[in-house]
Amino acid sequence: MEHQTKNTISARYIAWKVLTELEQGNFRHHADEKLEKMCQKQNLSAVDRSLAFEIISGCLRNKTLLEFYLSGYSSQPVSKLEQELRWILIISFYQLLFLDKIPDHAIVNEAVNLCKQENKIGWSKFVNGILRSALRDNVKEKTLRKTSSTTTYSHPSWLIKKWKDDFGEEKAIEILKWNNKIPNQHAVILRNFEKTIDEIVPSAAELSDEFGQNILKIKDFKNLFKSNCFRNGDLYLMTPWSISITQQLPLQSGLKILDMCTAPGGKAILTSCMEDVEIKALDNSSRRIEKLKENLIRCRIKNVCPVVGDGRDSSKIFGKEKFDAVLIDAPCSSLGVIQRHPEIRWRVTNESFVSIQILQKQLLDAAIEVTKPGGHILYSVCTFSDEETEEVINSFLAENKNMTCLKKELNLPGEKNMCGGFFALMEKRG
Ligand SMILES: C[S@@+](CC[C@H](N)C(=O)[O-])C[C@H]1O[C@@H](n2cnc3c(N)ncnc32)[C@H](O)[C@@H]1O
Repeated sequence: MEHQTKNTISARYIAWKVLTELEQGNFRHHADEKLEKMCQKQNLSAVDRSLAFEIISGCLRNKTLLEFYLSGYSSQPVSKLEQELRWILIISFYQLLFLDKIPDHAIVNEAVNLCKQENKIGWSKFVNGILRSALRDNVKEKTLRKTSSTTTYSHPSWLIKKWKDDFGEEKAIEILKWNNKIPNQHAVILRNFEKTIDEIVPSAAELSDEFGQNILKIKDFKNLFKSNCFRNGDLYLMTPWSISITQQLPLQSGLKILDMCTAPGGKAILTSCMEDVEIKALDNSSRRIEKLKENLIRCRIKNVCPVVGDGRDSSKIFGKEKFDAVLIDAPCSSLGVIQRHPEIRWRVTNESFVSIQILQKQLLDAAIEVTKPGGHILYSVCTFSDEETEEVINSFLAENKNMTCLKKELNLPGEKNMCGGFFALMEKRG
């Protein structure tokens, strides 16, 4: 069997493992990070890796739709199928319906072999029967009868209802469509502008004025990762929305800044290159602080000092030290970046907002204690739910009359061709 031999682990086997483990962990982990870890353990070629990524993202983006197709051929309700068996079938339907490059017989054989490898002979017969009857039925040519938006756009129904209630039917559908598009990837040039462009345009990236001259659209990651400018840290992968948030901080040379939720460090690194400032970069995850340290070394950044600790303990951690500006890029539901991380839609629940909002408010309360009079707090989240944006800021401002909101902005996913998010820039009066 293909996936049993060490050097020829199959992309579909890896995709199946990643998807099953993601669901077992309630989609808490990012699919791309899980795939990366799995690929490090296995000897997967670059081509197979990108096929695995395509299958994983495609299945997450179209999960409900694929289960709907599957339900037309399964004798058992899809929700009652064992999790691992269900993912074998979802992966197979994804390949049948969305990918042209894999022949039908290979899709069926691989699925059956996967079952056999797991010693599930009953599964292999069941899978074989379902896939062969779907092929006999010419499933690829079937036009769907009218389905609900939950099925068509594969998002949980509570979330669709929330967006329809909050933003109206038309806007909600726009968000759902945007979320299911393949995302563009961007990088910001930190230094050596001309040299960087000469080296990687057009082989790895293209110039576009859409978001500013120093932001490139990535075309080829393989070429990008082997370029000198990437290895020397002259550029950093970042979304245009994150870049625009970073640019909101009022900077001048010599300022002391606290980045309270820093890792993996995009905003701290960009800030440190924009002005000669001194940044304390705090995060409560030591694993993510290690990632920040790697990024600082690659980008040759000297004015960012990583610290492991809880932002809520900032005044304890930094003692008498006060800051001219505090950036809180807060943990959030991340609903604004579903396009880049399709698993997020399956992770967040209606209850998630309560505990997240409490944490966001506590981080703001801690920030005010360490901000100098006349200093600024920039609060940002990569989500657009009212609970994590307006509600948090309004209650903070109501409780802290010495804070003034200078500017705030909500971007719904797809607006300005960017992901969804929110920021509020506030000033502490002297
Ligand atoms: C949205 S990410 C930050 C992204 C980062 N600012 C960047 O630009 O790369 C949120 C971060 O907050 C951290 N975090 C969560 N709870 C925290 C807390 N109580 N104190 C400090 N950091 C926390 C997470 O570990 C995560 O790295």
